[in-house]
Amino acid sequence: MPRLPGNVIDGKKIADDIRTELKPRLTRLADAGVVPGLAAVLVGENPASQLYVKMKGKASEEMRMSHWTIDLPADVPEARLLQEVGRLNSDPKVHGILVQQPLPDQISVDRAVSAVSPLKDVDCFHPVNVGLVLIGRPRFAPATPSGVVELLTRSGYDPNGRDVVIVGRSNIVGKPLAALLLQKAPKANATVTIAHSGTRELAAHTRRAEILIAAMGSPRFIKADMVNQGAVVIDVGINRIHDPSAKSGYRTVGDVDFDAVRPKAEAISPVPGGVGPMTIAMLLSNTVLAAEMSSKAAGAASAP
Ligand code: GUN
Repeated sequence: MPRLPGNVIDGKKIADDIRTELKPRLTRLADAGVVPGLAAVLVGENPASQLYVKMKGKASEEMRMSHWTIDLPADVPEARLLQEVGRLNSDPKVHGILVQQPLPDQISVDRAVSAVSPLKDVDCFHPVNVGLVLIGRPRFAPATPSGVVELLTRSGYDPNGRDVVIVGRSNIVGKPLAALLLQKAPKANATVTIAHSGTRELAAHTRRAEILIAAMGSPRFIKADMVNQGAVVIDVGINRIHDPSAKSGYRTVGDVDFDAVRPKAEAISPVPGGVGPMTIAMLLSNTVLAAEMSSKAAGAASAP
């Protein structure tokens, strides 16, 4: 089982396995003259967003996929951003497009995600793709949620029939993850609770979880007394906290108080090295899928 010492789930190893599994698909595409390409639109100079986009580009390069970053200033008008997305939509070399969030206030997240062609929407944020996930016919798998599902199943924890509690109701993680885990399908079929900032008696819910998923963006919020003995704990949080002892002056921690929760957990994912690498692997996987779909469509179009 891909575990680090003790009960720590090794997200890097599982993400590497997923990337390795993409290689034969990349070879088939290369034989057809197709190199999958991923374009990231980055607005402003948020250091975390800059780092994520850089990591996505590096991962694409390692897989010999094309990538582009479209850097826009923090005060870019929404119309200009939508125009850039439109240009990427019509570029045949670009198979996947993502608009990194968060976005500045002058830009509507709804309009930005809706502007991306649903066929290039590798984040799976477009309302049509969100709807397809909800009705159990996903075109793309939402990257972080499907990364969580792969992390669980490849570590030997099938959600089938389990009590899963997700803390956090974001459009990026909590809601799409609940939709995936609810499906009557392999790697799913769980009983899902979404808890959030309006939940009364939060700990009463989290303590019932056989699989607890923390995705609310609050550093080390989940304490040991909120976790059932023997639970599997997946930490989606990526928070920067001030740490004068670190060279950079900050430290990255999850939404779970890792050192305190680990002794109670059957298995736990670390931050960093848990869900983060999985998000990137699933994004690459979606970009390969987008390239395959476009190459099939082009083949069909040129058929006699
Ligand atoms: N911001 C935080 N997570 C994500 C993600 O998965 N995709 C994009 N585009 N922005 C994010």
